[in-house]
Amino acid sequence: MAENVTKSMPSRAARLSVAPMMDWTDRHCRYLHRLLTREALLYTEMVTAPALVRGGALHLLDYNVEEHPVALQLGGSDPVELAAAAKLGAQAGYDEINLNVGCPSDRVQSGTFGAVLMKDAALVAECCAAMIAAQPREVTVKCRIGVDDQNAEEVLPDFIARVSAAGVGRFTIHARKAWLQGLSPKENRDIPPLDYELVVRMKALFPHLHLSINGGIATLDAAEALLDRGLDGVMIGRAAYHQPGDVLCGADARIFGRDTGLSAPDAVRAMLPYIEAHLAAGGKLNQITRHMLGLFAGRPGARGWRRSLSEGAAHKGAGPELVEEALARICSLEAETQAV
Ligand SMILES: Cc1cc2nc3c(=O)[nH]c(=O)nc-3n(C[C@H](O)[C@H](O)[C@H](O)COP(=O)(O)O)c2cc1C
Repeated sequence: MAENVTKSMPSRAARLSVAPMMDWTDRHCRYLHRLLTREALLYTEMVTAPALVRGGALHLLDYNVEEHPVALQLGGSDPVELAAAAKLGAQAGYDEINLNVGCPSDRVQSGTFGAVLMKDAALVAECCAAMIAAQPREVTVKCRIGVDDQNAEEVLPDFIARVSAAGVGRFTIHARKAWLQGLSPKENRDIPPLDYELVVRMKALFPHLHLSINGGIATLDAAEALLDRGLDGVMIGRAAYHQPGDVLCGADARIFGRDTGLSAPDAVRAMLPYIEAHLAAGGKLNQITRHMLGLFAGRPGARGWRRSLSEGAAHKGAGPELVEEALARICSLEAETQAV
């Protein structure tokens, strides 16, 4: 059995993680999330092994040092290529290398990666063993409970048993099947029914493994309830992206017992020098502010904040002052509301 090096930092942080999301969890998004939570584990968007190894697209590994603990998610199904990509990820300094066995998109299916690999646990085990042997970081897997007409009750424990025998000690399970025909990737995140109970049963079957649950978890209350049922971690995707203020601001105190993350207004202030540096390097304001739109979701002025950022950031020459002004408006509105 290959030995998977367990690094305590990402494993502890995995009690709460922000899901890998293509086009969403880029490095600017992760920088913002890291201000809101010092403790949770952050995942990159999926980077394909062929893009790194054959395409030499090493810029896809760029990240900010402030993002740690941060996991690189890889897509692929060729053990040699995945091993080379994992090595590049470790050299770049990622804390964990994760294999995507959950993504149902057409493009990904055509390259035989993602959720279709739920049908070939032996190949996933081989890939993971190669990734583990090639580099020192912990290798983890994000999977579904099954695909298409598979019997999830049988397939999932078999999958976990085989892949863990290759040395993987930590899994994140998106608690629904992927239907590979007929549903768009977006529909595949909503339509196949969630089965949290099956994932909870996996923890009883594999008490020695670190199992995180994912899918439809929208609040810290829901996350805590699942942790209370014995699961080791909770991964939150869309809710963390759309309402980062709600989901991530209180996370350090509630999930990790440490009050280390910033409030939403303080995080905005801390983003200003980051934005300035990005603009000075030739970047666009909108590349950062698009991830900040939901920061005040549900609070007075949220709509104005969203509008100022989405409309204003597209204007030529717009800079951090736009964000500062929008923040000043939302803070004064909040002060007025509190005074009433
Ligand atoms: C825009 C978007 C992009 C996604 N990209 C990836 C990806 O690159 N890799 C992956 O494993 N899952 C991806 N997912 C799935 C999420 O990681 C997560 O499993 C899913 O959204 C369910 O969690 P949630 O209900 O908390 O959002 C993506 C989801 C969204 C919304």
